[in-house]
Amino acid sequence: MSIDTNMSQQIATITINNPDRLNALDANHLEGLLEAFRATAGDASVRAIILTGAGETAFVAGADIKEMSTMSPEEAMRFGRLGHAVGSAIERTPQPVIAAINGFALGGGCELALACDIRICSTNAVFAQPEVGLGIPPGWGGTQRLPRTVGKGIASDLIFTGRRIRADEALRIGLVNAVHEQDSLMEHASVMAREIAGNSPAAVRLSKRLIARSQDAHPSSGLAEEAHGFAEAFGMHDQQEGMSAFFEKRKPVFENEPHLELEGDA
Ligand code: HXC
Repeated sequence: MSIDTNMSQQIATITINNPDRLNALDANHLEGLLEAFRATAGDASVRAIILTGAGETAFVAGADIKEMSTMSPEEAMRFGRLGHAVGSAIERTPQPVIAAINGFALGGGCELALACDIRICSTNAVFAQPEVGLGIPPGWGGTQRLPRTVGKGIASDLIFTGRRIRADEALRIGLVNAVHEQDSLMEHASVMAREIAGNSPAAVRLSKRLIARSQDAHPSSGLAEEAHGFAEAFGMHDQQEGMSAFFEKRKPVFENEPHLELEGDA
């Protein structure tokens, strides 16, 4: 059992590696994920991140039920908050995070994917929030991020019934952006990540920060922040380079940003 980070062509792939237990997440794995996202956030050479699960059966089959089964309310609070910290690290890492969902994404697995910026999945992927069948509500952000992603009515259906949905339904309700054959899922994730990596890291970082505001800010304050973010880009190297390259009919050469960290961790 491990959390593995692989670097290639400015793309970090973080793999949850516990396939014998369908990548179910216990507290150790959550700590490992936090550490992995802190490390990639601080690595200026990383321009996009892919999060996936090892094996061909599961992305993440949920929080570790064995570990949860004996928890006291206080321990459950800590476990819930640790999952929140991972979701928050994914949202606050400056680089876009693509979830490559290669099988079951159940309970905490679906919630982990919901914290990512973009979700793509394989044809065999299965999604559910089955927590109510275990006597608990979702605890790693599902009650907040699922309604914001698919709307309150559909989220309520999925959370109250706990029913499983397949990739085609996940695509239809907007839970995932695209569905691919399993053997080409990682290649599709890499192509998307490379496309992101070819753009200005500073502009992508600003965009991610501003998109995040759309989820919790009033539109007028979100627009005010957009004006500031837009202005912030001017005078930066990449704005000069991107626009010069356009007129010179060449590919721009963008700079890695120095001293990155999780947004808000300064
Ligand atoms: C612990 C798990 C697990 C989980 C699978 N395993 N999911 N262990 N926690 N969430 C283990 C099984 O016990 C088994 O171990 C091994 O992985 C393989 O799983 P099988 O059940 O034998 O595989 P299969 O028959 O193919 O069924 C796959 C499955 C099923 C449909 C995904 O495993 C399943 O229903 N898992 C639980 C899904 C779930 O309810 N997730 C939500 C959890 S609550 P052994 O030792 O027998 O080989 C949650 C809350 C989040 O996520 C918020 C927390 C605050």
